[in-house]
Amino acid sequence: MSIQENGKVVSCAHLGGALFELTFEAPAICAAAQPGQFVHIACGEGNLLRRPISICDVQGDQMRIAFQVKGSGTKWLSARKAGDMLDVLGPLGHGFDFARLGERPVFIGGGIGVPPMLYAMKQTKAAGAQPTAILGFRTKDAVILEPDFEEVGTTHICTDDGSYGVPGFVTDELKLHVESFTGVAACGPKPMLRAIAAVAEEAGLPCQVSMEERMGCGIGACLVCACALKGENGETKYGHVCKNGPVFDAKEVEW
Ligand SMILES: Cc1cc2nc3c(=O)[nH]c(=O)nc-3n(C[C@H](O)[C@H](O)[C@H](O)COP(=O)(O)OP(=O)(O)OC[C@H]3O[C@@H](n4cnc5c(N)ncnc54)[C@H](O)[C@@H]3O)c2cc1C
Ligand code: FES
Repeated sequence: MSIQENGKVVSCAHLGGALFELTFEAPAICAAAQPGQFVHIACGEGNLLRRPISICDVQGDQMRIAFQVKGSGTKWLSARKAGDMLDVLGPLGHGFDFARLGERPVFIGGGIGVPPMLYAMKQTKAAGAQPTAILGFRTKDAVILEPDFEEVGTTHICTDDGSYGVPGFVTDELKLHVESFTGVAACGPKPMLRAIAAVAEEAGLPCQVSMEERMGCGIGACLVCACALKGENGETKYGHVCKNGPVFDAKEVEW
């Protein structure tokens, strides 16, 4: 079910570098939102296509998103002010299936793949699980949302250059603690997801990954967001990230 809502911007904050956090009111979309789903936002007259952004958090009637300015759409979004109106379509796609992640799931985010893990971690905690977060960033200045995650559960921060937290990649940290987890959920760059899926498979843990592809319509009508999946008899089949995903079982993905 997707809902189109004109939501009032509550705040838009600069987190440093090209990173921003925006909160808007969208009661109907918030009421239907599941962790791992995304919203499709109209980004002003010059940008014909809506931009897909993950749901970072939902509190009552307010939704929070965190994003990196890449091009004209996200630049427009970063210039919104409190009181502006936002044309939002959502919630879209399939989110995480918590029932298959067990009592001690680990949520792994890399870079701008970190935001959706916050809402996912919060919801599993509310459902009685004991979640852990492993969050990877390039460098100290790129670290976002750390206090929010720490409020929910044990949080390990890793940086590629060792300038903050544990030096190294999220996969190293996952390997170190893998025996204490019952399931893995991850969002981030594809090479990171592929490496996480391999660690989870070796440990015999269920693993769900949130995939990213360029999008057009966001509702399964234009085929822009096709991603390769494993079909029967070793054949490749194609799915839509916007409709069949963005969350897939890692075993389904043709890496
Ligand atoms: C399911 C999903 C969730 C996402 N969640 C987040 C998030 O929480 N935070 C965040 O910072 N980014 C997220 N992204 C990436 C974000 O959608 C792109 O960075 C954004 O669309 C770029 O738009 P632009 O106009 O600034 O850049 P431009 O490069 O000018 O965009 C041109 C066109 O390409 C499309 N496009 C470009 N890059 C991407 C991309 N990586 N994914 C999909 N479409 C793209 C745009 O939608 C637009 O139609 C997500 C992408 C997907 C698919
Ligand atoms: S974006 Fe159009 S089918 Fe997925």
